[in-house]
Amino acid sequence: MKQAHSWILFFLCLLCAGLASCIRNTPRYHIGISQCSDDEWRRQMNSEIIREARFYDDVQVEIRTAKDDNVRQEADIRHFINEGVDLLVVAPNEAQSITPIVEEAYNKGIPVILVDRKISSDRYTAYIGADNHAIGREVAAYIGNLLQGNGSVVEITGLAGSTPAIERHESFLKGMAAYPGIRLLATSEGAWLRRQASEKMEALLDSFPHIDVVFAQNDRMASGAYEAALRKQRARQMSFVGIDALSGEHYGLEDILAGRLTASFIYPTGGDRVVQIAMDILQGKTFPRETILGTSVVDSTNAPVMKMQTAHISTLDGKIELLNGEINRSLVRYATQQTILYGSLAALLLLVGMLVAVYLSLRAKNRMNRELSLQKELLIEQKDLLIEQKSQLETQKSQLEQLSHELEEATHAKLVFFTNISHDFRTPLTLIADPIEQLLANPVFDGQPRQLLLLMKKNVHILLRLVNQILDFRKVENGRMELRLEPFDLLDSFRNWNDSFCMALLKKHITFSFEAPSDMDFRMQADAEKMECIYFNLFSNALKYTPENGKITICLAVVAENYVLSVFNSGSYISSADVEAIFQRFYQVSGHQA
Ligand code: FRU
Repeated sequence: MKQAHSWILFFLCLLCAGLASCIRNTPRYHIGISQCSDDEWRRQMNSEIIREARFYDDVQVEIRTAKDDNVRQEADIRHFINEGVDLLVVAPNEAQSITPIVEEAYNKGIPVILVDRKISSDRYTAYIGADNHAIGREVAAYIGNLLQGNGSVVEITGLAGSTPAIERHESFLKGMAAYPGIRLLATSEGAWLRRQASEKMEALLDSFPHIDVVFAQNDRMASGAYEAALRKQRARQMSFVGIDALSGEHYGLEDILAGRLTASFIYPTGGDRVVQIAMDILQGKTFPRETILGTSVVDSTNAPVMKMQTAHISTLDGKIELLNGEINRSLVRYATQQTILYGSLAALLLLVGMLVAVYLSLRAKNRMNRELSLQKELLIEQKDLLIEQKSQLETQKSQLEQLSHELEEATHAKLVFFTNISHDFRTPLTLIADPIEQLLANPVFDGQPRQLLLLMKKNVHILLRLVNQILDFRKVENGRMELRLEPFDLLDSFRNWNDSFCMALLKKHITFSFEAPSDMDFRMQADAEKMECIYFNLFSNALKYTPENGKITICLAVVAENYVLSVFNSGSYISSADVEAIFQRFYQVSGHQA
């Protein structure tokens, strides 16, 4: 029964655990994204990542932004390592500084995707971004074409240690080599930032009175340079070329349409591709190590179309967001309904389980009741049997009582008879003893007659002692036995009493020895008659159980101020079990021990 309950409980627990896991829906993959900067281009990439990640329901994306600070980015990446992310996406601020921490993550087995910018080693899993060398070359070709092979150019680069800045510059230089009529007046670092580019541009304007084209490595810096030129009223004298071509207010596309920028080159963010490749890596699918995103020039000729298209795309994006919201709400509704459904299912199963348990316990209860009534019947039968046995025993007991009473009476009668007879024996015995004493006092009786008289005296004495013992027994029975203390020499008496057994010892050819310390005084107060009785009893028993040619030794000693009498006899002994019971009245050792 208990077992059935345990099984039901076990299954219910399993069910609950299953339901809990269904409802919890913990994301399986944790992706950490470390962005180097916080600008419109990065924000667009981040929103693409978040939107794409929604298509996978087991992914959690965590984005951290270092705000162009190497130390901060290193801390962000360490945070992701410590968190145990399943995959790391890094846009390194500067290659040299960020390489060690990226390598550390990669060496720890975390897949690393580099986006847009690179590190100074190949310890990464995949790279996604545009070809900055190609962009540098295309910019050179565009400017060469714009200036028809003649003119002057200044370059404002991104952050010196970041790979796009290095690659764009290198390839731009190579591309410009094809136009010997175009002079690169100066290259200045704008660190990808508007204000820095603006300041640098002011310095360049001061240094160079004539500049035809300003190539800034991103639109943000191109816009900053344009503003500097505007402040010095030289903006109309030169063209501004940037990179990124982002749509949106004050971004590249708007600047082209407003005539502030002559051209820009699309630098794709590719956030969706990042998530797709990350998922391919995590799910163990094949993936390209290098994914190069395409680029294209945007200028006044295609900017309106692009604006239309990007507007259309952003409308579609809005709708997608709307749909996403709707889907999310539906998902939440679905999850709630699912929880309710599973909850009800669990409750139902619980109920079924409880019903089964109740049914099983009822069944067990009935079975136990049946067993109990059977046992009860059996007990009643046994009780009747016991009552019958009891009454039989009571009858037997009263019969035994009757018998014992009769036996007691018979014993009493026998004892009375023996007592009377003993009394009757004692008088003639005393009458025999007195003449023997008188004859012994006569010196005429010497030699053999005297010996015979002494023997007669001894045996009369034995008979008198036996008669006295019978009378003593009655006294003990009636509680009238008294202790008569008188001066008594133990050693002397024992030696004297030993003589009484000479004949019997001779008859059975028994060797007898009596041992006692000669230097001890054995005088005391004792009941001589009783002492004699005890000694004779012990000696007689030893005689009785010693075989022909045997040996009896009696020792008298003093141990711890007590007199100790020991009787040893060959042939048989009293076992230790019998020693315990030897002082019980009439106790007899069964059998002989050899
Ligand atoms: C964005 C950005 C872009 C540029 C790219 C280079 O943070 O500065 O404007 O094209 O990074 O990595």
